[in-house]
Formats: sequence, C-alpha cells, structure tokens
Amino acid sequence: MLFSCVCIHTYILKIIPEMSCFYFKGKSKSKQKPESAPELEGQDRPRTSGKSERPSKSLGSLPSTPKSIPDLYKEKEHTLRVFSYEELREATNGFNRLLKIGEGGFGSVYKGTVRPVNGKGQPLVVAIKKLKSKSLQGHKEWMSEIQFLGAVNHPNLVNLLGYCSDETEHGLQLLLVYEYMAKRSLDDHLFSRGLPPIPWKTRLEIILGAAQGLAHLHEGMEIKVIFRDFKSSNVLLDNNFNAKLSDFGMVREGPVGDHTHVTTRIIGTFGYAAPEYVKTGHLTIHSDIWTFGIVLYEIITGRRAVERSRPVNEQKLLDWVKGFPVDSQRFTIIVDPKLRGQYSLTSVRKVARLAEMCLIKNHKERPTMGQIISVLKDAIADCNGASSSGSKSRGSSREVKQAVR
Ligand SMILES: Nc1ncnc2c1ncn2[C@@H]1O[C@H](COP(=O)(O)OP(=O)(O)OP(=O)(O)O)[C@@H](O)[C@H]1O
Ligand SMILES: [Mg+2]
Repeated sequence: MLFSCVCIHTYILKIIPEMSCFYFKGKSKSKQKPESAPELEGQDRPRTSGKSERPSKSLGSLPSTPKSIPDLYKEKEHTLRVFSYEELREATNGFNRLLKIGEGGFGSVYKGTVRPVNGKGQPLVVAIKKLKSKSLQGHKEWMSEIQFLGAVNHPNLVNLLGYCSDETEHGLQLLLVYEYMAKRSLDDHLFSRGLPPIPWKTRLEIILGAAQGLAHLHEGMEIKVIFRDFKSSNVLLDNNFNAKLSDFGMVREGPVGDHTHVTTRIIGTFGYAAPEYVKTGHLTIHSDIWTFGIVLYEIITGRRAVERSRPVNEQKLLDWVKGFPVDSQRFTIIVDPKLRGQYSLTSVRKVARLAEMCLIKNHKERPTMGQIISVLKDAIADCNGASSSGSKSRGSSREVKQAVR
C-alpha cells in the first residue's frame, strides 16, 4: 500500500542524518562518493538559522503555517501508481540493455511500456529509473523524489507516474516511473556529438521553460523550495522541446519566517554549487540562482561547467569565460562554435550579462527567478528582431533589465 509504504520509509529516513562529509554527485567523470557512513544520530530535517523551528499546527491561534512537502504529499499521494517489480521488469523486457536510455548517480534509466491506468486504451510509454546502490543516500533520494513530485504539479516539472518498492530475492528494489521525455536532456543536446546542435533561440526557449519550473519551486508554492541540483542533464525535453525539470532527490524546503537560510550537508554536483554554500553549508534559494548562471554559460559556450579533458586554463568554465568580457570584442570567441555564427549577438550578450548577475558573489544581490524570466523573454524577442515591449517588467525587474542591456 502506498501510504503505509511511504510512512515506513519516512520512519526509516527520520533516523538518517545529514552526513557530515561533502558529497558531490555526478557521473563517473567527476563523482565523489560519501567518504563516511551515516551516523545514526541527528536530524533529517534541515537545521534553520538559529531561530525556532516551524510552529506546531496545533497552536490554533497562530497565523496558519504554510504546508510542508510531506503535508502536500499526503493530499495528493493517491494520484501516484504503485507498480510491482514484476510489472516493471516486463515493461523493460527484463531491464534489457537495448532499452537503457541513460545512467546517472541514482542508477540506470530505461524506456518501458506499462498498461494504462484502468487497463483500457493504449499502453503508456514511460521512463523507469532503477536505484542501483543500496546506500541510505540513494534510499533517501528515492523517497524525497516521491514526496516532492507526488506533491507538486507544473508543466515545467517532470511528471512522476508512480514508483515501486518491492522485496525480491535480490533484496529491496526501488524504482521510479516517469512520463517519457522523447528528446532526452538539454545536456544530451549541448554536449553529445551524436545529436545535431540546437539553435540559439531553441536554447533560450528551453532555458526559459527550466526557469519557469525553478520559479515555481522558489515563488509559486506555499513554501519556498530549493532545488539544489540544477544542471543541464536535469532539464528534460519532450517531443516538442518543452523543458521539464527532473531529479528532486535533493530538494529542501527553504527557510521560513525570519530565517535567512537552512544549514545542511553540502551536496550537489561538482562544479555547480554556489561558493557560499560550499564554504558554509548555508543553503538559500540564491544558491540555485548561482547554478542557473553556470547553465546559462553552458548554453552560450556549449561547454560543461567542468571539463577535465581541456587545457588547464579552460577546464573550469567560469575561469575561462572571465578572459572574454561580455562587452569586449573578444566575447564572441566563447560563443559555441556549433552555432556557426547563427545567433543574435544582442541576445547572447544579454544572456551573458544575466549569467554574470546570477554569479555575483554576494548571494543577496543575485536576481530572482521572476527577474530572470523577464530578461530571458526579452532575449527571445531579440532573436525575432521584435521589440521587448511585450514582456512584463516591474520594479526591481526593470533594474535587472537595465543592468543587462
Ligand atoms: N523521464 C525521462 N525520459 C527520458 N529520458 C530520461 C528521463 N529521465 C532521465 N532520462 C535520461 O537518462 C539520463 C540519466 O538521468 P539521471 O537523472 O539518472 O542522471 P543525470 O541527471 O544524468 O546525472 P546525476 O544522477 O549525476 O544527476 C538523462 O540524462 C536522460 O538522458
Ligand atoms: Mg538527472
């Protein structure tokens, strides 16, 4: 049963602490595994900035408290399907290698076909993610993903259809079942040699979709949610190149009330995490904005945040682009050669200035997702040769626009 299963896992996860070591996610290229085993003490919930925790709901006289992710999940959990391991094994032809469409830190991803919800109509094509490691961290991410995606619904967040948690002769099997995103990820299109390069305007439309998904986490719900793992491989694309964010195993509820940050173990993908977060473990929604800035430079340059195969001075994208200031003539040298000069320079410069603002060291000075969306819409309008008057700009959003002109 879904509810009892999730409750049991919640109980297990309550005893998993934030591991004290730095844990950076990534594929084999730059993966750093946890160096120590979790200690069975401490709290799973993020520590807040020294003030009291979220007020109890039983205090009826207090103003109503925003609902937490588990609260929201409980309201919507019935929409998730619970699959048996056998059903998913069949759906993927025994997890056939030919149906494998990707691999990440969590495990392998397969294309599969499952029966429709009520058994009527066409079979559904889905993506099935199979947890590979039996680590507590993997278990925790599986759980967070279900709780978060079971609680939210937005056109720019990937749709989780259901999950599986079955005991088999090989132990506990944890899987997640998503809508199938036919055009894979932004990462695949920017960096994989096998796929044709995507035009500048399409890159902007994709990143705008991703920004709208992130804005929903930051500004669109009762609680603020920090994504913590924004990167091009977590921007999935449907058949029409509509972008949807994926991988919510590391999401955190943001600070509430007067709190400025949550304190948590440092976790994320190497090369993408904000410097203040790496230094202090203090997590804010501004940490996601830094990472967004890095991905903006990835779409401009067609290079990854970190590429060990490059000459030393070009390995870290942010260090390399510093040598080519946005207003200098040299700037065009860093623009992705795969675009073959087919772009509006005004638009690319606007996005580079926006990236610079996202990458401001003082996290409080970085733009909000709302402001970022407004500038991206302008940059898309530049590609059409249209004026930007169609996009809404308000107050401080206008200031960001001034700065990126
Ligand atoms: N719903 C989906 N539909 C289609 N393809 C998907 C889907 N989810 C993931 N993939 C493919 O599988 C790949 C691996 O995804 P996964 O999220 O497991 O790892 P990652 O994001 O690449 O890396 P990491 O685990 O280090 O964050 C993706 O890059 C994408 O190509
Ligand atoms: Mg991913």
